[in-house]
Amino acid sequence: MLEINDLQVAYRRQDIIGNLTLTPIAPGQLVSLLGPNGTGKSTLLKAMAGLLPPRHGSVVLNGTNLGAIDFRERAKQVVYLPQSLPASVHLRVLESVLVSARASAVSADGGETGVDTVMDLLRRLGIDHLAMHYLDQLSGGQKQLVGIAQALIRRPRLLLLDEPLSALDLNYQFHVMDLLAQETHEHGLITLVVLHDLNIALRHSDGCILIRKGALLGQGMPAEVITGQALAECYGVKARVERCSQGVPQVIVDGLMQPVQ
Ligand SMILES: Nc1ncnc2c1ncn2[C@@H]1O[C@H](COP(=O)(O)OP(=O)(O)O)[C@@H](O)[C@H]1O
Ligand SMILES: [Mg+2]
Repeated sequence: MLEINDLQVAYRRQDIIGNLTLTPIAPGQLVSLLGPNGTGKSTLLKAMAGLLPPRHGSVVLNGTNLGAIDFRERAKQVVYLPQSLPASVHLRVLESVLVSARASAVSADGGETGVDTVMDLLRRLGIDHLAMHYLDQLSGGQKQLVGIAQALIRRPRLLLLDEPLSALDLNYQFHVMDLLAQETHEHGLITLVVLHDLNIALRHSDGCILIRKGALLGQGMPAEVITGQALAECYGVKARVERCSQGVPQVIVDGLMQPVQ
């Protein structure tokens, strides 16, 4: 279980997340974190990853207060993929994923993660052909996929991904969300993904959290959270959520609540 209780996060004197309490999230759930630009999504993820100490409140994972354990212990349980792409070091993709696996010491079965395990993950991500390429010679999207591989290989209990699809084409966006859902369900992870594409959130996630100005606007099943009214309030758009011919809910934006001046 992931429990967020009365969490308050600030930069200097500016409150960004104000007294946020979430309904506990169970293992095996892929949850989309949604909200407008500058609203505190990245700040919330950084606080959960232990990179920003909360001013108040707690992040509790499976009964352990993540604020009360040391960095190494937390790194075994929590993996955070920042919004920026991984640094362009002159290292082969395969090596970089192996290094990442070893950074969290041992894999779940107690053994060291080997080349075969890494190659298998790269294959499942559709980037095994890049294994021997150098990171600093990859495209933005390819680097983003390697970042996702580096995060997944560590098999955390809590996986925090900040806009992991931002540089990916349509095919890889779908592929990555599919793989994240599989990994989350099979291994009982708790995965939080910051997304801007609401249709992807509707199709691929088990739950959604919608925040605005650091406050919770909604949490629950995707189609319960993503509604025309919520989108008007949150993003200032006139939008409809309608089911497509295959029954999947889709967001259609008709205009802005107030035309841009
Ligand atoms: N390091 C920082 N120092 C001060 N303010 C910051 C810092 N990082 C982000 N902010 C501010 O915090 C607010 C929330 O930012 P962020 O969490 O990155 O938003 P989001 O990820 O939802 O777009 C913004 O107003 C931003 O300007
Ligand atoms: Mg952000």
